[in-house]
Amino acid sequence: MNITFLLNGETVELADVDPTATLLDWLREDRGLTGTKEGCNEGDCGACTVMVTDEAGSKALNSCILFLPQLHGKAVRTVEGASGPDGEPHPVQQAMVDLHGSQCGFCTPGFVMSMVASHANGTTDHDTQLAGNLCRCTGYAPIIRAAKAVEDQPVPVWVKDKPVAAKPASPLLPKSSDELAKVFAAHPGATLIAGATDVGLWVTKQLRNLDPVIFLGGCDDLKEISITEDEVRIGAMVDMNRMGAAMADLHPSYAETIRRYASVQVRHAATVGGNIANGSPIGDNPPALIALGATLHLRKGDERRSIPIEDFFIDYGKQDRAPGEFVEAVSFLRQPDRLKCYKLSKRFDQDISAVCGCFNITVSDGVVSQARIAFGGMAGVPKRATRVEAALTGRPWTAETVQSALPAFAEDYSPMSDMRASARYRLETAKAMLERYFLEDQGELTNVLEVSA
Ligand SMILES: Cc1cc2nc3c(=O)[nH]c(=O)nc-3n(C[C@H](O)[C@H](O)[C@H](O)COP(=O)(O)OP(=O)(O)OC[C@H]3O[C@@H](n4cnc5c(N)ncnc54)[C@H](O)[C@@H]3O)c2cc1C
Ligand code: FES
Ligand code: FES
Repeated sequence: MNITFLLNGETVELADVDPTATLLDWLREDRGLTGTKEGCNEGDCGACTVMVTDEAGSKALNSCILFLPQLHGKAVRTVEGASGPDGEPHPVQQAMVDLHGSQCGFCTPGFVMSMVASHANGTTDHDTQLAGNLCRCTGYAPIIRAAKAVEDQPVPVWVKDKPVAAKPASPLLPKSSDELAKVFAAHPGATLIAGATDVGLWVTKQLRNLDPVIFLGGCDDLKEISITEDEVRIGAMVDMNRMGAAMADLHPSYAETIRRYASVQVRHAATVGGNIANGSPIGDNPPALIALGATLHLRKGDERRSIPIEDFFIDYGKQDRAPGEFVEAVSFLRQPDRLKCYKLSKRFDQDISAVCGCFNITVSDGVVSQARIAFGGMAGVPKRATRVEAALTGRPWTAETVQSALPAFAEDYSPMSDMRASARYRLETAKAMLERYFLEDQGELTNVLEVSA
């Protein structure tokens, strides 16, 4: 595969690249750019953060789970390119020095690159922007002070990258869903790579050889979000930050769950299609989409089919997807917002759900007219609570009805115990989430960030 991209302002053309070589390894081992650090090598610590610019703008990404072909036509800036051509530090670098934002310094290049990207974008929600960067010795206060100190300073010209004009690369880097359909039909055994936030770990942690691979990042038509009066349609390649923004007005509780999905760097890469297609029982989108009554749109060659999204998840590790078939989009009807999503994890930020419960209950004249409830983390697949739904539907929306429905959770689910939570804890918290939904609906709001004795 031949690819072209900009690295710190200079054009790089690579011939016959190993399609699953990571940017981090290439920077450190082939280019000697060792400022970018390797911490976890699985997207968790942010030590490897770089800034990548494409037509959609500049974003911080983890280079340890970013394959070289994903950069085709884009511009990459590493910490070596954060300072100016004459060695003049970027304002965030100077602020980190002035405000004592670094001690051992291992995390510092990653923090600096996250801050360079958010400074370029004018974002000032620093806690959120830096939640994917871990520091073990300095502590976050001086780092946040440094990020705040540069808010009003101009963006240096040398970090204003533009995507590079790149030649067509390879059929394995399709530019549209039509091209994808064709090449996937010709190689039905290929591994599709969307954001690589799962597939990246198959390579860095499981040392798997993936051949052939098809990259979906160039398929712009799969990145569309369409919101009409009747319907919301999300393309498979919509990343999690855009998905969160799209949900902010429609279903704010869903958007809040996405804010807690991994980190900014991972959310810039991870796609809705990948989160559904991987069939994980603990993915955060499927339970919300099941509760919204979403439809999944699949395509194989020129054949398209649409199914209720819950039918896609057949069993643990088994989805209703044929070889050569891919996820094109997911859609759901516009509806009054009755959706609440409760993500339970050991940390507030940057953690996979132990249990994720999504409730969409409609009440008409004091009676439950429709209930759609779905959970992640309670079974081998994201799964609807059909017995709980039946125990609520047609009954008055009261505390008594809620209490009488709670035993049905044990009929819907036999969760497992693992490192995230015990089976009993999962079942109890699932029940508590229904009670919370009811209480919030009565105006008793809860906020897990506020603890009172
Ligand atoms: C540090 C870290 C934190 C994470 N935190 C969370 C979290 O909080 N919540 C959560 O839900 N997940 C989390 N994840 C998991 C991961 O981000 C998601 O599963 C993600 O949505 C996968 O999307 P992707 O685009 O990166 O998929 P990829 O890794 O590219 O692909 C995943 C799978 O889907 C297939 N695939 C991708 N796109 C398509 C398509 N259009 N059609 C058919 N098959 C396709 C691929 O072949 C592969 O099998 C985390 C991952 C990391 C590394
Ligand atoms: S090395 Fe930890 S996120 Fe990349
Ligand atoms: S300065 Fe040591 S880990 Fe952050």
